[in-house]
Amino acid sequence: MGNGLILGIETSCDETAAAVVERGRRTVSSVVASQIATHARYGGVVPELASREHLHAIVPVVRAALEQAGVGFKDLDAVAVTAGPGLAGALLVGITYAKALAYANRLPLVAVNHLEGHIHAVLLREREEHDARESEEPVLALVASGGHTHLYLARPQSGLWSYGLIGRTVDDAAGEAFDKVAKLLGLGYPGGPWIDALARFGDPDGVPFSFSQVKTKAHLRGKTPRTKGASTSPIAELDPHFLFSFSGIKTAALRYVEVHGLRNEAERRADLLYPARAEGDGRGTDGVARPPQTKDEALALCTQVTLDLIASFQHAVIGDLMKKTFGAAERLGANRILVTGGVAANRELRERFSQEAAARRLAISFPTKTLSTDNAAMIAAAAWPRYEASQFAPADLSADPVLRLA
Ligand code: KG4
Ligand code: ZN
Repeated sequence: MGNGLILGIETSCDETAAAVVERGRRTVSSVVASQIATHARYGGVVPELASREHLHAIVPVVRAALEQAGVGFKDLDAVAVTAGPGLAGALLVGITYAKALAYANRLPLVAVNHLEGHIHAVLLREREEHDARESEEPVLALVASGGHTHLYLARPQSGLWSYGLIGRTVDDAAGEAFDKVAKLLGLGYPGGPWIDALARFGDPDGVPFSFSQVKTKAHLRGKTPRTKGASTSPIAELDPHFLFSFSGIKTAALRYVEVHGLRNEAERRADLLYPARAEGDGRGTDGVARPPQTKDEALALCTQVTLDLIASFQHAVIGDLMKKTFGAAERLGANRILVTGGVAANRELRERFSQEAAARRLAISFPTKTLSTDNAAMIAAAAWPRYEASQFAPADLSADPVLRLA
């Protein structure tokens, strides 16, 4: 005891991850076993398969994290685990194992909200890079992933953080829109990295996509909206200026594909990228989409019209994320912005957010590319202040697929 080491465990979606982090500020080890190969051929995460894969991976992944850190259970101060939001069955695998480890090794257990984890992925990077004392200023945080698009005002208070929900999506998450448009275009899963790689070869103004102001519809008032990964808050009390909606642009992209006769091209691409699919065989590793390895290879599969559609889609989504994030920062007087979650890995997003922040003299930060997508280092980092404040999980901790942060 007393090394300041927390073992973090994350199994909320399709990555089985474990990490050892020291005092929320130094990553000692971080192991992520991705299930992409399993889900890619279905074009999305299959919950039953996710649970099964977590069951297979959890023990070796935790062992690898401890081995890479060169520590044993006796060297740990606590075990931290994602309690939600996420897939119920997937979360349960991590929670059950974390509880067993904590009990067997007489370690306290800390429950972490997955979204708080994404926010701490950025804080962890900041602490690793500058050893400075943490600022007590509030931060506007945009969490944009496959399951969430949420804006929070995060406030540090002598080490502990509290969060106020400012905005969120009323339907699809931003990453979900990337995934669905990529699938529509016969590109691989997850779609974000594909669209990111191809967008720079298209004209971002080629297709006029527009986002209209989201209205708080009467029938949504007080209701919890639908999203892929989780529904985490009713929208009734939120300012409609900070609500996102990505299902419209997905439909607009579909219409564009139909009207411009891009369907056959997309089918051909899907057959090339998923050879097993073309043979009617959904099994085997050759059914897995291979990411475009070179610029020429990716380009060769797409006509210019498709590349323009890809570039315009990405440009429009990022523009909308920017408009609402910077609008909220201005309204709330936040001088610091943090963008995190899988979509924060996007190159154009980082460039444009950074430029806009510089123009407005706001500080902005992102996680490292590897900490953008799901991992357990962010869970162990988020757990540290809770551990220090003795905020431990109850003995009957269970998975909460719709756990709220604010
Ligand atoms: O945070 P994450 O790993 O898992 C969730 O908590 O959902 O985010 C995964 C999402 C996927 O939708 C994926 O397409 C998207 O993040 N993503 C990206 C990029 N890399 C991953 N979206 C846009 N550009 C990227 N480079
Ligand atoms: Zn995530």
